Amino acid sequence: MRIEFVASDRTKAPTGGAVAVIAFEEGKLSLAAQDLDAATGGSVARAIAAANRFAGKAGQTVELVAPSGVDIQRLVVVGAGAQDALSGEAVEAFAAQAYAAVKTSGVETLTILLPGADAALAGHAALGVTLAAYRFDKYRTTEKADKKPSVTTVVIAVDDVAAAEAAYAPLKALGEAVYFSRDLVSEPANVLFPAEYARRMKELESLGLEVEILGEDEMARLGMGSLLGVGQGSRRDSQLVVVQWKNGGDSQPIAFVGKGVTFDTGGISIKPADGMEDMKWDMGGSAAVAGLMHVLAARKAKVNAVGVLGLVENMPDGNAQRPGDVVTSMSGQTIEVINTDAEGRLVLADALWYTQDRFKPQFMVDLATLTGAIIISLGNDFGGLFSNDDTLSENLLAASKASGEPLWRMPLPDFYDKHIDSAIADMKNVGNGRAGGSITAALFLKRFVNGLPWAHLDIAAVAWKKPSSSPTIPDGAVGFGVRLLNQLVADKYEV
Ligand code: BES
Ligand code: MN
Ligand code: ZN
Repeated sequence: MRIEFVASDRTKAPTGGAVAVIAFEEGKLSLAAQDLDAATGGSVARAIAAANRFAGKAGQTVELVAPSGVDIQRLVVVGAGAQDALSGEAVEAFAAQAYAAVKTSGVETLTILLPGADAALAGHAALGVTLAAYRFDKYRTTEKADKKPSVTTVVIAVDDVAAAEAAYAPLKALGEAVYFSRDLVSEPANVLFPAEYARRMKELESLGLEVEILGEDEMARLGMGSLLGVGQGSRRDSQLVVVQWKNGGDSQPIAFVGKGVTFDTGGISIKPADGMEDMKWDMGGSAAVAGLMHVLAARKAKVNAVGVLGLVENMPDGNAQRPGDVVTSMSGQTIEVINTDAEGRLVLADALWYTQDRFKPQFMVDLATLTGAIIISLGNDFGGLFSNDDTLSENLLAASKASGEPLWRMPLPDFYDKHIDSAIADMKNVGNGRAGGSITAALFLKRFVNGLPWAHLDIAAVAWKKPSSSPTIPDGAVGFGVRLLNQLVADKYEV
């Protein structure tokens, strides 16, 4: 899809295709809506009055087909809430909603009219349509033409084209990074296995990132018995991908670590068949890290950042690890593997230890589709935040608010730590029963951060949405974490 900014001309009615304008709470019209109301002899106000429950609230739309007095096919009036609270996020939602209203209508051009609006908001409108227009359609060969999106061009009319283009540049990089992340999450596991994933990461060197790939031999030399144990039942070799972005002078790096289980059958503690196909997206945490590194490089962020992706496939097999096996992690700590389906923490244990040991970062944030229990705790719309550091937590919660990717802080009480003590090893990989399952998982990870400031984001509920609860997220892969972490870095950690 092409996006272009043009100069607003309020003296001339737009022509052709579909046109979108904002209305605010109580049906108050934006400048562009007022202009179109005048050009159509009051049709906009009449349509709003006739659609008698339209109140300009976010998410509400009224559509006029072939309004008289102007030469356009469709006019979409989209509610954006209170006028004084018009945020980047609200404009993203407005633009996404406008796109959704016309995407398969047959029109090829959508013109979004934003006269009088800030250039920054115009950039967010462009990001909003971009995020809403994401599709993973590479495996469709027989889709009917009338089911395919028809919109190929989005024109955004603004007061200052140059300023809008400048505002959009970093957001364009962000949109592309979210696409990269969503593509990884959407790929089926027969296509995206650890080595193929690592190969796609290596391609990011063209953006100026340094990408290293560690195979099983190197990981064995490093003593990563915990991560390697998980991949041991798979025909596909495990990989550790280390991505570095160096543009922060001699500042200490910040580090992001992702769970990348390209498929999680549960291993010998095998999962039920129903819904197991969802476990292709058990690499969503690592895909967030991948997307973050992508955007940091593309927008040349002034930061030193490290991304570490632990990539494995968890399969049952004659060579798979057994419940009751004891493995030795890179940290030297031993783990009794009670349940082979609690594999994400085993992967992260070595990835976290490696990251702090090699890079001595200011902090580490890990992201993982770690527990079903977090869905029980928080429902489908929050990532769970666990942390040993209040400053890092507050920064993450602020970035969460600003980016529109919701987080909720969870407790990390030391007195639950005993629940993962083992009778024969330093720890076991599950708690006692299912109580507090997300917390005991986080406490397990905490044993591998060596006291560093650290946060763990359990994104099992939000990596994949069906149905989606936001106009900027089509059903399927969310790319959760990319916008959040980019915001965190931009607001707090660039030099
Ligand atoms: N990948 C799953 C967690 C998950 C479940 C993500 C549902 C998304 C949706 C993880 O590896 C897992 O299997 N966790 C177990 C842990 C249990 C065995 C202690 C779980 O949540 O049931
Ligand atoms: Mn599992
Ligand atoms: Zn898993």
